[in-house]
Amino acid sequence: MSDSTPPDAPEAAQPYALTVNGEDVHVDSSWIGESLLHVLRDRLSFAGTKNACDQGECGSCTVIMDGQPVVSCCVMAADAVGAELITIEALDGTSDVQQAFLSAGAVQCGFCTPGLILATHDLLDRDPEADDLTIREALSGNLCRCTGYGRILQAVRTVRDDRLNAGGTATSQGGSSIGGTGR
Ligand code: FES
Ligand code: FES
Repeated sequence: MSDSTPPDAPEAAQPYALTVNGEDVHVDSSWIGESLLHVLRDRLSFAGTKNACDQGECGSCTVIMDGQPVVSCCVMAADAVGAELITIEALDGTSDVQQAFLSAGAVQCGFCTPGLILATHDLLDRDPEADDLTIREALSGNLCRCTGYGRILQAVRTVRDDRLNAGGTATSQGGSSIGGTGR
């Protein structure tokens, strides 16, 4: 019996599909072992997912995968096949978290912002009454090199308080939850 494929040869590129923001998108010419970050950005043009460290340290590449935030630079695209992926493009700029970041001046270069926005939506969907320590812990994997975090924390508190004052949670206020975009 003979096998002509060298044992350390990369797998041949083969088409596969990912489900991104509610739509199936096909990846035609990518080695399936590529990182999800590179496939989203470079193959599928979801450029809102940022690459700052490419090694799981900064959170700029955060996406939601089956309801959980993940750093997409550390996920193989192969492992995302069959999962529901949510990227920053699922939001149209008018979510309460996006508006709060703008109002608080929590954006400078904006490189960290998509990851922080998704992480904040995830946090306040799961824990609408998150206290300051919980907020800091939840966002501790998202590094910002510009703002010093004060305005970011202020923005998150504003969303939390506004939602609580409105008597609802993220999932009860249409359009503000990343989990129910249906796009
Ligand atoms: S680019 Fe993925 S964690 Fe920094
Ligand atoms: S605003 Fe520049 S890295 Fe956060």
